[in-house]
Amino acid sequence: MRRLFPVSDETAARPPDGAARADEGGREWTLDELADAYAYPEQPPGEPRPWLRANMVSTLDGAAQHDGRSQPISSATDMRVFGTLRALADVVVVGAETVRQEGYRPARARAEFAARREAAGQGPAPAVAVVTASLDLDLSLPLFTSPLVPTLVVTGAAASPERRAAAEKAGAQVLVAGDGVGVDPVRAVRALAERGCTRLLTEGGPRLLGQLVASGVLDELCLTISPMLTAGGAQRIAGGPSVTVPHRFALMSLLEEDGFLFSRYRRS
Ligand SMILES: NC(=O)c1ccc[n+]([C@@H]2O[C@H](COP(=O)([O-])OP(=O)(O)OC[C@H]3O[C@@H](n4cnc5c(N)ncnc54)[C@H](OP(=O)(O)O)[C@@H]3O)[C@@H](O)[C@H]2O)c1
Repeated sequence: MRRLFPVSDETAARPPDGAARADEGGREWTLDELADAYAYPEQPPGEPRPWLRANMVSTLDGAAQHDGRSQPISSATDMRVFGTLRALADVVVVGAETVRQEGYRPARARAEFAARREAAGQGPAPAVAVVTASLDLDLSLPLFTSPLVPTLVVTGAAASPERRAAAEKAGAQVLVAGDGVGVDPVRAVRALAERGCTRLLTEGGPRLLGQLVASGVLDELCLTISPMLTAGGAQRIAGGPSVTVPHRFALMSLLEEDGFLFSRYRRS
C-alpha cells in the first residue's frame, strides 16, 4: 500500500511499466495505520454532529457489482479497508436489497480494534441498520438472531405492523424515520444520531446511496476504484433520480495497492 495523495515520502515514482519495487512503499499497512488514515473527523465536545461516510467499490467502467455481488470486483486490501471502516463506525447503514443479495452478517468484535473503540467510547462492534420499506427480511439470519449489538431495522411509520412486530420478536430494534412506508434519509441520520450513533458508515447499495446523495446527508465517500472492466448494464454506485446540480466533493486522500485505488472524498 502506498499513499499517492497527499504526496509523501511513500509516493515514489514508478517505472513506465508500472511494476512495483519492494522499496516503493509497497508493504502492507497495519490495521492501525489504516485506521489512522481513515479516522473520522474530530468532533467538537458537547453536541457532536453526525458524519455519514459511504464505502463503495466500482470498476473502471462504473460497475458497482458483478453477477449481483461486489466481491468479484473487490480485493483482499479492499476488504481490509472495508473492515477498518466498519471498525471505526458506530453504525453501518445498509439497504435491504444488499442484505438480501449479499447475505449480510453482523459486524464482529475484532481484537485489533478493541482498544481504539474503547478509547473512542464505542462498544465492541458497530450495529447494522437495515433500511427497508417492505421489511421483507430473512429474520432467521445471524444478522438478526445473533448480532453482538442488536440490529436496527429503519423503516417508515406506515410499514407493516405485523412485520415490524416480527422483526422485534426476532431481536431487532425498529426505528421509524418516515411518515409513509419509506425512510426519509434526513430523519434516519437524525434518529441514529439521537441514539448516539454519530460516526455513520453506509455500505450502499446504489439505490440507498442515491437517496443519501440526493438528500444532501452524505459527508464523505470512500471509493475503491477496481482495475477491472466488466461492460454490461451493472448499477453504478449511486442510482435513482439525479440531483439538479452535481454535488462537489474534494479529494482527501488516495492510496494504491496492486492497481486498486482507495480514494477518500469529502463534501466541499
Ligand atoms: N459496489 C459496492 O460497493 C456495493 C455496495 C453495496 C451493494 N452493492 C450491490 O448493489 C446491489 C444491491 O443494491 P440496490 O441498489 O439494488 O439495493 P440497496 O440500496 O442495497 O437496497 C434497496 C432496498 O433498500 C430499501 N430502501 C432503500 N431506500 C429506502 C427508503 N428511502 N425507505 C425505505 N427503504 C428503502 C428498500 O428495501 P425493501 O425492498 O425491503 O423495501 C429497497 O428495495 C447488490 O448487487 C450488491 O452487490 C454494491
